[in-house]
Amino acid sequence: MEKHTAKESARDQFVSKAGFIFAAAGSAVGLGNVWRFPYLAGQNGGGAFVLFYLLCVIVIGFGLMLAEFAIGRHTQLSSVNAFRKLDKRFTFVGAMGVLAAFVIMGYYPVVGGWSVAYIFKSLLGQLSTDSQIMGEAFGSLAAGTFSPIFWTAVYLLANIVIVIKGISAGIEKASKVMMPLLFILLIILVIRSLTLPNAIDGLKYLFVPDFSKITGDVMLSALGQAFFSLSLGMGCMITYASYLSKNENLVQNAIIVPLMDTSVALLSGIVIIPATVSFGFDLGQGPGLVFVTVPAIFATMGPVLGRLFGIIFFLLLTLAALTSSLSLLEVVVSYLIDNRKWDRKRAVIISSIVLFIMCILASLSMGPLSGFTIAGLNIFDALDWFANNLLLPVGGIFITLYIGWFWGKDKVKEEVTNGGSVRFAIFEIWIFLCKFVIPVIVTLVLLSGIGII
Ligand code: TRP
Repeated sequence: MEKHTAKESARDQFVSKAGFIFAAAGSAVGLGNVWRFPYLAGQNGGGAFVLFYLLCVIVIGFGLMLAEFAIGRHTQLSSVNAFRKLDKRFTFVGAMGVLAAFVIMGYYPVVGGWSVAYIFKSLLGQLSTDSQIMGEAFGSLAAGTFSPIFWTAVYLLANIVIVIKGISAGIEKASKVMMPLLFILLIILVIRSLTLPNAIDGLKYLFVPDFSKITGDVMLSALGQAFFSLSLGMGCMITYASYLSKNENLVQNAIIVPLMDTSVALLSGIVIIPATVSFGFDLGQGPGLVFVTVPAIFATMGPVLGRLFGIIFFLLLTLAALTSSLSLLEVVVSYLIDNRKWDRKRAVIISSIVLFIMCILASLSMGPLSGFTIAGLNIFDALDWFANNLLLPVGGIFITLYIGWFWGKDKVKEEVTNGGSVRFAIFEIWIFLCKFVIPVIVTLVLLSGIGII
């Protein structure tokens, strides 16, 4: 693919089918899978959360992803302009997506920064091998003042450099190498984790649902996690699919990407939850979980092997995070380029400065600013909640409503079947999902999670 510039008139396309799948999966697979999924499962009671999450992925994930692919490829425009072109009344959906990307990028790089820090800690042998003090080691990083901000800056800088260069150059290549490696490493870790004493109890916690744990709040967390992990509800996949060629099979892509994403999430859960139980760590500790438990697993592998695995794991986690945050930053940047007529460099630099300030606040809210809360949440958690449990689900409601009620069934069919050449047996079911099922379920979960019903 040629380098993409703002002035270009003809649109880039992904060179190969695999290129698109890896880029879309690269956006989906990120901190959401390895960092957020296990800690939410730990906090929300395990099996019941996981079951509801899987239901959301199957019903909502597939349906909404296909909806976003169809809109993106049809218009060949990024989300704000895509909606503006299709139906002006829906432009706000695109705008809300830009806001969501902005809010997520206001804390995502903080976690990316922790991951970068852990590459260096592993490299220098600074990760304690005494599993009793793992928690303190993470706590002193995250709750620190300068050190986490420094690592956030390093992480954000990597994003800036790649996004200034344009969309295609880096993203496609990086994802192709990283994804299979991450998969292999997770499988090795699954084996190590499951052979720890009492690991089976952790596995039960993760997969045997205890329905008494299901509350509106738990359901909303699972729903928000499905949106976040699949990069849905904000037009990110609209933007990606706008680079997709007219003869790609959208239906197939909308099945493969969630499958890959969910496998990585489940594998991460199977690595982290059983090990956490085996070591006797706190399952409900929140954002530190992966950074506490995974180094403890490595510590059981001996000094040399453990260190080596530590470096590789956090390197891959950082790369997975990068391919995701690139897609988020790209949503913000392409809006500034297309709608505000800024040049790419200016768009990247100015938005990154604002994002960096938000990240500083988010990082400090884990330590010195922890006393400052919004509705009981610190700044970090509040940004996370606002984007994932509110903006993305609301975006998802409107995107599916648009497909189900406004675009016109014939036009939708024309797009998802490539003009009739792709077989899509459950087309009617999918339309039904978009018309009723998805908007209704998401609305109900949203209302019950907020405490209204
Ligand atoms: N899905 C990514 C993750 O799991 C995060 C992400 C990238 C995202 N692009 C997105 C989330 C768009 C929501 C919307 O880490």
